[in-house]
Amino acid sequence: MPCAPSLPCHVTFSRIEIHHLPQIVDIEQRSFTSPWSLRQFAMELARPYGDSIIMADEDDGRVLGYALWWVVLDEVEILNVAVNPDFRRRGLGRLLLTELIARADLNGGRTFFLEVRPSNLAAQALYDSLGFQPVGVRPLYYADSGEDALLMRLTIE
Ligand SMILES: CC(C)(COP(=O)(O)OP(=O)(O)OC[C@H]1O[C@@H](n2cnc3c(N)ncnc32)[C@H](O)[C@@H]1OP(=O)(O)O)[C@@H](O)C(=O)NCCC(=O)NCCS
Repeated sequence: MPCAPSLPCHVTFSRIEIHHLPQIVDIEQRSFTSPWSLRQFAMELARPYGDSIIMADEDDGRVLGYALWWVVLDEVEILNVAVNPDFRRRGLGRLLLTELIARADLNGGRTFFLEVRPSNLAAQALYDSLGFQPVGVRPLYYADSGEDALLMRLTIE
C-alpha cells in the first residue's frame, strides 16, 4: 500500500540516478528559496568523491526524500537534504539521515559537517536530535538572504 497520510511509509534506499531527478527537482523547488537546478544535481552525481541517497516509497517508487554529500578521507560534508513536503513530520527525515550516516560510516566517514540557516529551526531540531552540535558560523554564507550559516558537526566513534 503506497504511503498515505494515515498509513506508515515503507521505504527503500538507493543511490540517486538521473531518472530520479525530475521528482527531486520538484521537491527541491518546494523546499528551498534557492533550489538547485537539475544540472547542479547532475554535476554533483558525477563527482568521484560525491555520494547520494534517495528514499522512495517501496510500493509506488515515489520519491520521499534525498540527500547528497561528499566524502574526503574521514570527513563527510552533507550538501543537501530534503523530505517531500507531503510527507514531513513522520520521522522520514531522521530515517534518511540515519541511513546516510550508516552508509558514509561504511566508507570510512567519521566526522559529519553541514551548514544550516539560523532561521531553519526544523532542520536544526532534526540535526540536534541526531547528535549534531553547533561548532561555528560561516558569515554571509547564503547569497540570497545574506544570512550566516550555522556549521554543525557530528563525530561518530
Ligand atoms: C528538515 C526536514 C528534512 C525534516 O524532515 P522531516 O521528515 O519532517 O523530519 P522528521 O519527521 O524525521 O523529524 C525529526 C525531528 O526533527 C524535528 N523537526 C522536524 N520538523 C520540524 C518542524 N517543522 N518544527 C520543529 N521541529 C521539527 C523534530 O525534533 C522531529 O522529531 P519529532 O517529530 O519526534 O518531534 C524537512 O523539514 C525538509 O525537507 N525541509 C526543507 C529542506 C531543508 O530545510 N533541508 C535542510 C537544509 S540544511
